[in-house]
Amino acid sequence: SLIRKSGRTIGVLLPNINNPFFGRFVRGIEATAMEHDYVPLIFGSNNSETLESHYLLESIRRTADGMIIASAVSDLKYIDRILSQNAIPYLLVDQAPVVEGDQIDARNDQGGRLLAEYLIQNGHHDVVVVADKTPTLNMEHRLNSFLDTYKQAGFTINSDHVIMTDLTKLGGYSVTKQALAMKPTAIFAINDEIAIGLYRGIQELGLRIPDDISIVGYDDIDLTEYVYPKLTTVHQAAFELGQHSASMIIERIENRDEPIQKVTLPVKLMRRDSVKKIN
Ligand code: RIB
Repeated sequence: SLIRKSGRTIGVLLPNINNPFFGRFVRGIEATAMEHDYVPLIFGSNNSETLESHYLLESIRRTADGMIIASAVSDLKYIDRILSQNAIPYLLVDQAPVVEGDQIDARNDQGGRLLAEYLIQNGHHDVVVVADKTPTLNMEHRLNSFLDTYKQAGFTINSDHVIMTDLTKLGGYSVTKQALAMKPTAIFAINDEIAIGLYRGIQELGLRIPDDISIVGYDDIDLTEYVYPKLTTVHQAAFELGQHSASMIIERIENRDEPIQKVTLPVKLMRRDSVKKIN
């Protein structure tokens, strides 16, 4: 028989399955889950609280043994209440739990600082940031460390130079003119998807990257090496993030009393061709 007592399933809630970052993350989850004879159930919520809640309830109904929740937009108290009531352990990715609980992320403070330092070294003092309009905690850390590094170097970035948009290619594309209107020499896109949207907007306006404008992204999705010019970005180990997430939730499923775990992975600056040195 193929039926067994425990489904050995892990519900995985993602904000956006179009973003290759989450594709790599899921492949990491799958790899580790398979080693332990678990299967992930993948749900994409498209950044909608309604869908998030729907999939949470469905995961409970379908008796998921545990949940991995990446960059949730819902109220974390709600998530905690509904999963705790049903005794389902969960792991938050890129968020901090409202009640003591397991969590994992990557060094956003380091990533934001590395990019700011690199742009400053290359002479970029007038910068526009294109950020997330519904930021999760990791995005706030990323943005703040970028802004703080500029400030400490004596180049304060005014808040009107921080544009909020969706974390998608369209989100980036649609704010291109608004960003360029401030006459920056460089743009920091808070993720690569936004950067790639900006690429198209900038190129449609007849401007060249990096000669007319420099740009940096964040995540190091595979597309960054296939756009022209190759995008300078911060590498996040999305696959390893998935592997760690799976092993953490499996440990929790199998031993509820283990001490709470917090894991933070390092990041790396990927210097490519989208930044020009200016004086
Ligand atoms: O691109 C998606 C973003 O959401 C990543 O930067 C990652 O950190 C996640 O929170």
